[in-house]
Amino acid sequence: MKLSKKNIKARIRKGKIDIKKNVKSFFGWVRGAKLVELKECEFSKDPVRPELDNIFRTSYGRKIFGVKYKGEIHAVMCFAFTNKIPKNVKELDLMSRDAFLQSANRDQKVGMIAIAYTVWSNKKGGGKLIVNEVFKMIKKSNHLNRLITMSPLTEMARNFHLNNGAEEIQVNVETQNFEYKIIK
Ligand SMILES: CC(C)(COP(=O)(O)OP(=O)(O)OC[C@H]1O[C@@H](n2cnc3c(N)ncnc32)[C@H](O)[C@@H]1OP(=O)(O)O)[C@@H](O)C(=O)NCCC(=O)NCCS
Repeated sequence: MKLSKKNIKARIRKGKIDIKKNVKSFFGWVRGAKLVELKECEFSKDPVRPELDNIFRTSYGRKIFGVKYKGEIHAVMCFAFTNKIPKNVKELDLMSRDAFLQSANRDQKVGMIAIAYTVWSNKKGGGKLIVNEVFKMIKKSNHLNRLITMSPLTEMARNFHLNNGAEEIQVNVETQNFEYKIIK
């Protein structure tokens, strides 16, 4: 089919309107969303660590955060609190248990390092949003002074964290650690 000049102009106009509409709805959802702490998440939908159930994710001071928009959760990030940097789930488990037990003598403040061991998002922009909101929360915290990830060994995880401003700490056998530097 041959396109007339009029048709081409109409298509360009429609394209511009579509882009404007998409940009508007993208910023709309990001602005309207907020960070909430969750008692549980749909852990079987976690693309990174579906084997970790809600008991694991909430024991020993561990926390689940979500980005909520219009009553729905669109991104999830799970944390354990430690005093050292874990290289795998076993170390994460042991180090966060250890920090939790030590915290009994320290006014219930568990660990000084927040380890983000999984993050997933099902709405574009949710990933960056949850990292930014968690970063702000940790910056305000009195006892947390580092935000470190224990990420899968994938290009996606690597690009995601590096593009969001994190620095690589180390690449391990099963995971890689990135750090979002917090200057207080
Ligand atoms: C990685 C993930 C959380 C990103 O969430 P998202 O909401 O799509 O991410 P955002 O839209 O906020 O993107 C932030 C930046 O991350 C990078 N990024 C996002 N998805 C990416 C992908 N699939 N591959 C490479 N880089 C990606 C981009 O640089 C993007 O910036 P841009 O939009 O300016 O290009 C999401 O794709 C996901 O759930 N992946 C599966 C789970 C996973 O692998 N998690 C591991 C991350 S540790």
